[in-house]
Amino acid sequence: MQAESAASQTALMVCAYRARESRAARPLFVDPWAEALAGADGEALAARLEAQFPPMGLWLALRVAYLDRLVGLAVDRLSVRQVVILGAGYDTRAARLPRSGTTYFEVDHPATQAAKRARLAALPGYPVDAARYVACDFERQDPITQLVDRGFDVREPALVIWEGVVPYLTEAAVRATATRLAAGLDPRSVVAFDFVGKKLVEGSSANTADHATRQYVGELGEPLRFGANDILPLCADAGFRWVRSLDFNQLALELCGDYVRDRQFRFQHIALCSRTTPAIGWP
Ligand SMILES: C[S@@+](CC[C@H](N)C(=O)[O-])C[C@H]1O[C@@H](n2cnc3c(N)ncnc32)[C@H](O)[C@@H]1O
Repeated sequence: MQAESAASQTALMVCAYRARESRAARPLFVDPWAEALAGADGEALAARLEAQFPPMGLWLALRVAYLDRLVGLAVDRLSVRQVVILGAGYDTRAARLPRSGTTYFEVDHPATQAAKRARLAALPGYPVDAARYVACDFERQDPITQLVDRGFDVREPALVIWEGVVPYLTEAAVRATATRLAAGLDPRSVVAFDFVGKKLVEGSSANTADHATRQYVGELGEPLRFGANDILPLCADAGFRWVRSLDFNQLALELCGDYVRDRQFRFQHIALCSRTTPAIGWP
């Protein structure tokens, strides 16, 4: 949960991490806009965290690569024509992964969204009209109502990506938003979100890098608030009836081809949820 009027700093920081990955020799994805969007201020935020928690770059790269893959599957195999990015920050999927006939909706806290739009306007060549922009504070507002106001069709399925946001919200806001999504979206819709474990959020992890990460985002004005060791009960309470959760060691094994215990990916997960079993197998 960010301060009422301040644009998210963590959003700028993860954008800089996307720029770093894009420059790698064998990147998991390429975001051609990230470096210019993040700017020197975003890079400085990432560099400080990198020194404290080196696995952060791979963690975020895996997250982006996996969620990019979901967009392809949803559009190409499930004929989903609406992609919603909740808490979009400096996400560029609308520009990076355009699909004919598919509408992107970027939903974010009004302060972050205004900051992003100002940066986009100064970025030559960026297709600003690739997304519809929807302002919403998840602590107070209903994302479905806000989306419908911008032309979202609740009778058509959507892929909803809620990336890097849930840990910063209160549990009440996570529950309210998830419940609203389960009830308000077409039942064929799929919601994907990442979450972290309770120990990381509560500061009870024995690992010093975990403490440093938690403290750092707190200093940026975005303290970690919500953690879960088992997300199934919350998703079931919200109204979802199909839930999958995978951890980042699984993702690393699949996307990088190895398992490295020292990466410290024990607290990070991605959940996929739907009201009905999707018509295709999900990765
Ligand atoms: C770590 S950033 C992630 C941004 C983006 N999803 C990404 O992965 O690059 C956290 C995002 O959560 C959003 N956020 C935090 N609290 C929010 C709230 N109460 N309502 C709406 N968005 C919120 C911030 O504005 C920011 O865009």
